[in-house]
Amino acid sequence: MAIHTLLCTLLTAIAGAQAITVYGQAGQQQQTIGTGTNTATSALPSSTLAAYDTLVLNPPPIPNPPPPNQFAVQLAAQAVNVNGLSIPQSGAFYGFSVEMSVATQVIGHNGSVIHPPFLNLMSLVAERAGRIHVRVGGNTQEEARMVPSLPDGKAIEKQKVDTNNPTQTPALLYTSEILYMLANISSLVNVKWYLGVPLNDSANLALDIALYGQQILGDNLIGLQVGNEPDLYARHGHRPATYGPFDYYGEFGNVLGAIKTMGVPRTSNILLGPSVAAADWTPEMVWDTGFIQTYSDALAAVTVEHYPDDNCAALYEGFGDPIDPQTEFPKFLDHNAGWNMIGKFINSSQVAQAAGKPFIMFETNSASCGGFPGISTSFGAALWALDYGLTMASANFSHALLHVGGQNVYYNPFTAPPTNESHFHQWTIGPIFYSVLAVSETLGSSNNSRIIDLGANGQNIYTPGYAIYENDKLARLAFVNFMTDPSGANDYTVSISVDGGESGRPAATPPQIKVKYLVAPSVGDKFNITWGNQTFGGQFEADGRLKNDLHIETIPCDAATNTCQVKVPAPGFALVFMSDEAVAESEPASTATFATTAVTKIKNTATLDEAVLATSNGNKGMEKYKGSTSFGSNAAARGAGVYPSVMALLAVAAGTGVVLRAFSRQV
Ligand SMILES: *[C@@H]1O[C@H](CO)[C@@H](O)[C@H](O)[C@H]1NC(C)=O
Ligand SMILES: *[C@@H]1O[C@H](CO)[C@@H](O)[C@H](O)[C@H]1NC(C)=O
Ligand SMILES: *[C@@H]1O[C@H](CO)[C@@H](O)[C@H](O)[C@H]1NC(C)=O
Ligand SMILES: *[C@@H]1O[C@H](CO)[C@@H](O)[C@H](O)[C@H]1NC(C)=O
Ligand SMILES: *[C@@H]1O[C@H](CO)[C@@H](O)[C@H](O)[C@H]1NC(C)=O
Ligand SMILES: *[C@@H]1O[C@H](CO)[C@@H](O)[C@H](O)[C@H]1NC(C)=O
Ligand SMILES: *[C@@H]1O[C@H](CO)[C@@H](O)[C@H](O)[C@H]1NC(C)=O
Ligand SMILES: *[C@@H]1O[C@H](CO)[C@@H](O)[C@H](O)[C@H]1NC(C)=O
Ligand SMILES: *[C@@H]1O[C@H](CO)[C@@H](O)[C@H](O)[C@H]1NC(C)=O
Repeated sequence: MAIHTLLCTLLTAIAGAQAITVYGQAGQQQQTIGTGTNTATSALPSSTLAAYDTLVLNPPPIPNPPPPNQFAVQLAAQAVNVNGLSIPQSGAFYGFSVEMSVATQVIGHNGSVIHPPFLNLMSLVAERAGRIHVRVGGNTQEEARMVPSLPDGKAIEKQKVDTNNPTQTPALLYTSEILYMLANISSLVNVKWYLGVPLNDSANLALDIALYGQQILGDNLIGLQVGNEPDLYARHGHRPATYGPFDYYGEFGNVLGAIKTMGVPRTSNILLGPSVAAADWTPEMVWDTGFIQTYSDALAAVTVEHYPDDNCAALYEGFGDPIDPQTEFPKFLDHNAGWNMIGKFINSSQVAQAAGKPFIMFETNSASCGGFPGISTSFGAALWALDYGLTMASANFSHALLHVGGQNVYYNPFTAPPTNESHFHQWTIGPIFYSVLAVSETLGSSNNSRIIDLGANGQNIYTPGYAIYENDKLARLAFVNFMTDPSGANDYTVSISVDGGESGRPAATPPQIKVKYLVAPSVGDKFNITWGNQTFGGQFEADGRLKNDLHIETIPCDAATNTCQVKVPAPGFALVFMSDEAVAESEPASTATFATTAVTKIKNTATLDEAVLATSNGNKGMEKYKGSTSFGSNAAARGAGVYPSVMALLAVAAGTGVVLRAFSRQV
């Protein structure tokens, strides 16, 4: 079988690549103590996995007519004079959703083997936002089962299955070690976790994760998700065709009853639901069961999951012709992308707010089924995620979690190197990670920022803008320019005025403002991205720390005209700080970093089952597909999609670990 040949080839490659790597401190070269492996830094082999895809798309043409390149915004200094501000938001608005099956790839192996780049990345957000929310779950949580131990002290592993029975879905086996791993992380960086309770089998509930999760993580566990996209259960054959919102309502109640019976420490403000994909049911169908009222005490938040687009046709038959990324690219590059996406959830955000519950976009990213080559990996995706995040915050979502699917998807905010390359490659930071930093700085660390979409430039969709009031005072402004024009002709200049003029209030424009830019030469660019002059660098170049000196521009304002002029490059994002206090609430005074002194160890414990591949690693958006999702039945995978999936699974199963030798706080 072709797959077995591939497996053998890969294992041979892994076996031949045994080496110990000692990563240097900042600024030092990486040294490799190899055993016959070529460690030269030139012409290193690079992977063909989706996450390392190198396709660069052309920017779309400038719209015709182009948006006005000069416009004014008139703002009130005090929130009391503004209608339509959002609920109070925190800088932890954006977090991450890590598909459970790839936890060892991106988080760590066990309580003592944690990937330092993951810690560094979480630290960057936590220093800005005060904390960071990370979910470990997804499709693969449904078949996850706790076992007393796994070989080699691993925290998570795919069950070995009978290869003669292709329909058997293997369980994802985990030990309490994964919970200690998460707890250990929280003792180093303020990461708060969401976990998922399996609901594949409502007659035999598996609730260990609720009990041990609470016992081991304590207050660092902030939510237990009950059911993942239950509106798709019937379509995917996990429930009878008649399965509806009232059935889910009943199962949620069964889980709540069972965890009460088993005596978990906390049953109030801890469960999350319904996490509908809003595909086969509307969220309202769930609200209409009385879900929120009945379970109000137990619910920590109400959740939905949605991707604005899908690339499933590239992976599976039955979805029509694969979409051409270049043709699809413009759909992500305007303000409608975010608004159109959340339209179906606005009523639900109001329903949640009325019930006093946070409303969370629990899993999202640019496109389901792995995202698009060229799009999900581009600076355009960074601008899309920024605008989408600020749009959700304006519309009273409380959090949104960007999905991390591992090496066989395009849309990751961060990706570990392939196992067979981890002795000479570092991590790859995706453009949307910059969006998470930028959104956290836009909202700041007070938990008390309210944001409004300004409808700037006559609501032009290529030049959206937002105002942020922190502790009731105008603190920051945020502007996006979705266009690409190296000539500078489509940079735009926004003229900012605070009070004065027709407001009838005395002019309150400050003498100077500060501006931090997120820029790249083109929306197609992948790596030449800087945020306040800082960057993670290119493919395989990141250890999770920002490189270069921070640069924030100071712009003097004109007292005579009561205006400040801010230029927003095409393409780019400008975060405008209206006071030094607004800078202080956003910028970290120091960032804890974690020594990358590490030892790479390689093990050959790969197991492979084709059925896993079709359903694992965050492949979502099977909405259009009617019938079974098992691999090789009526959802035959296309060649292009299978190969990366196989490789990713092998990478997970083969399990490279980075042993964290020492933690150091560099302040
Ligand atoms: C690692 O595996 C990938 C396939 O996933 C391959 O493209 C690459 O060349 C391999 N690297 C090495 C160093 O063997
Ligand atoms: C992390 O978890 C392990 C359990 O695997 C525990 O033994 C260890 O003491 C913890 N390490 C730290 C640094 O907290
Ligand atoms: C953690 O994982 C590493 C690498 O897989 C292994 O060597 C080590 O024994 C494990 N530690 C424990 C406590 O199981
Ligand atoms: C649920 O998943 C577990 C673990 O994989 C499996 O043993 C069980 O048979 C599944 N139940 C159903 C009804 O699919
Ligand atoms: C909003 O949702 C509630 C609860 O399902 C429903 O009663 C109401 O009709 C919805 N409103 C709109 C405008 O859709
Ligand atoms: C968000 O909530 C605030 C406070 O209730 C409300 O004034 C505002 O209109 C809401 N925004 C949207 C878009 O629903
Ligand atoms: C923000 O909210 C979180 C969660 O409720 C809390 O732990 C934290 O202390 C708050 N931060 C501030 C500055 O109030
Ligand atoms: C990176 O972008 C900057 C402008 O943002 C440009 O000056 C520089 O030449 C670019 N470098 C590369 C290698 O493209
Ligand atoms: C950007 O960072 C580099 C490297 O740290 C530094 O040399 C340069 O002066 C910085 N640029 C600005 C405008 O501060």
